Amino acid sequence: MEKFVINGGNKLNGEVSISGAKNSVVAILPATLLADGVCVIGNVPNISDVTAMLEILKTMGAQVKLVNQNTYKIDTRTVSSDTVPYDLTRHLRASYYLIGALLGRSSSAKVAMPGGCNFGGVRPIDQHLKGFEKLGATVTMEENAIVNANAKQLTGNSIYMDIVSVGATVNIMLAAVKARGLTVIENAAKEPHIVDLANFLNSMGADIRGAGTDVIKIRGVSYLHGCDYSIIPDQIEAGTYMVAVAATGGNVLIKNVVPKHLESISTKIVETGAEVIEYDDSIRVISNGRLQKCNIKTMPHPGFPTDMQPQFAAALSMADGTSIISEGVWDNRFKYVDHLVRMGAQIEVNGKVAVITGIEELKGAPVKADDLRAGAAMIIAGLIATGRTEIENVIYIDRGYENVVEKFAALGADIRRVIFEDDPIIKGIRSAG
Ligand code: EPU
Repeated sequence: MEKFVINGGNKLNGEVSISGAKNSVVAILPATLLADGVCVIGNVPNISDVTAMLEILKTMGAQVKLVNQNTYKIDTRTVSSDTVPYDLTRHLRASYYLIGALLGRSSSAKVAMPGGCNFGGVRPIDQHLKGFEKLGATVTMEENAIVNANAKQLTGNSIYMDIVSVGATVNIMLAAVKARGLTVIENAAKEPHIVDLANFLNSMGADIRGAGTDVIKIRGVSYLHGCDYSIIPDQIEAGTYMVAVAATGGNVLIKNVVPKHLESISTKIVETGAEVIEYDDSIRVISNGRLQKCNIKTMPHPGFPTDMQPQFAAALSMADGTSIISEGVWDNRFKYVDHLVRMGAQIEVNGKVAVITGIEELKGAPVKADDLRAGAAMIIAGLIATGRTEIENVIYIDRGYENVVEKFAALGADIRRVIFEDDPIIKGIRSAG
């Protein structure tokens, strides 16, 4: 078992470079299934969600080659299957993008429902399936767990999304890009990774307009070629370092970012009293580590991102005054609060609202990463706490943060990845050969 061990109290100083965006790359890798040629994709983060998605593509028959540290050459022309079993999809939530990509590629997809972070209880995909059906696919569920989608010929249509969904917007774009005629997605998600996917598909010859607004128009094309593309920087990874610096105190230049994508996060950091200076492709955060309370309501982009609320909750648990966080995207995203409370935080959760009464001191404790962003919150809590914090379940953090221990350590944090050799489960596996 691996844990992160943190001795809190150090200020963060120096520079950190942000990796490619997880939520872009997990959509763009399946999108390579639509290309009749080689895609060269740069700025691919070295995270376990990427490893899992590349393994799926390889198992399906794609040729995947690492060209240099963060660049992959992917040729999916050798893929012959339209079926993805559960032992492949169970590792990451975004494997449901294979439904849209395979449907767009060959009008047929049979994909087992995925695993991944499960902070919100059930994570429905009704809007994805509704979109596929609107494009002319017949969708059935086998054993409640395998999506089977087929069409003679996908045909463009007007699709109004009942709720704003990142995943459904991506999946419908993937399915519609080679459909006959015009598809219009209304009430579409506007996240930077939606725009990134549209730019990637357009680089392959697609005709997609309006990505980044709530109406996306896709005129189907019959052929998509390979392309060279570079993934955008990860907005949430950047935001996580920004909050960490604000909370610990220090002065850090966060490089390789798009400041415009960070506006909602920067605004809140400034409200807590830290200083944020924007440059063209970097951002500096300066803080004395004494934060003021602030209130946050999470919303789809350009609102404040839900994927940043756990990190803010950790920071605000030591702010002056009482902060209120309202979760507006997921039904239940406060599971991590129990761990902060174990460290001494005063947080009351009532449904989708958390009330955080700032205290003088968090105390290091053994805690768990219940999901990816909950794990990021535990790191921040550990950095500002007095004493030693041990974080279990770091596999969740490795899903979305490249070299997180190395990056924080380079900024001056006392953080280590420790492999507990005496873990009974690991011992059992070893002795079983
Ligand atoms: N929803 C439905 N029906 C659907 C789809 C979604 O009711 O068919 C609901 C969800 O239950 C949720 C809301 O709509 O309440 C928004 O869900 P969305 O579909 O936008 O989320 P997602 O696509 O499953 C992506 C990110 C999440 C991020 C959310 C919201 C990826 C791979 N994941 O999930 O990122 O929290 O958008 O911004 O892009 C993370 O990175 O840690 C993470 C969980």
